Amino acid sequence: MRIDIITLFPEMFDGPFSHSIVKRAQEKNMAEIHLHQLRDHATDKHRRVDDYPFSGGAGMVMMIEPVARCIESLQKQRQYDEVIYTSPDGELLDQPMANRLSVLSNIIILCGHYKGIDERIREHLITKEISIGNYVLSGGELAAAVIVDSLVRLLPGVLGDETSALSDSFQDGLVSPPVYTRPREFRGWKVPDILLSGNEKLIREWKNEQSVRRTKQRRPGLLDE
Ligand code: ADE
Repeated sequence: MRIDIITLFPEMFDGPFSHSIVKRAQEKNMAEIHLHQLRDHATDKHRRVDDYPFSGGAGMVMMIEPVARCIESLQKQRQYDEVIYTSPDGELLDQPMANRLSVLSNIIILCGHYKGIDERIREHLITKEISIGNYVLSGGELAAAVIVDSLVRLLPGVLGDETSALSDSFQDGLVSPPVYTRPREFRGWKVPDILLSGNEKLIREWKNEQSVRRTKQRRPGLLDE
């Protein structure tokens, strides 16, 4: 999968993309991530990418020309399946959406900033708008990093144990059961006997019960869906 990210702050991705799973996916050539500085596509000599909103009001608006130039220069090189814009009023990211996006070949993610972007970008150049939650971030970079992480870990072969993405919370509409490791007892706090029993069938049933119970307690909305 190839992911092109258009941003005013490419350095913000240094941390999230250079560790752990996303780093490994890039090293194994399963994910190819390219960062594009929007300012490099500005049309004036001051490399300006924002301007005052027509009719006044607070905040600056991301200009259409640099964004259009950047997106269209990428589209000249290859076909993109989605051109995504990160925005608090987009469709909420959830596991089914991550699953659907993870099978695409090429996507662009445009990180929002300032008060927003010129609406004509959304109307004419963006194919999908995604929010990562009902709160407002200072910019779309953290949202883009979250989206990329949620997709890349699903790519075949990225996780060592092929089954582990399938057993993630939410994959079957349930949250994960609790997990334990050594020691068997700490300050009198014991690991449930069943997990030490070696009886695979009972353990599977117990995990499933725990998942259902936790989902009812913590995320009942998932059961309605
Ligand atoms: N930009 C600002 N807030 C955001 C959010 N919650 N999701 C996606 N992009 C955003």
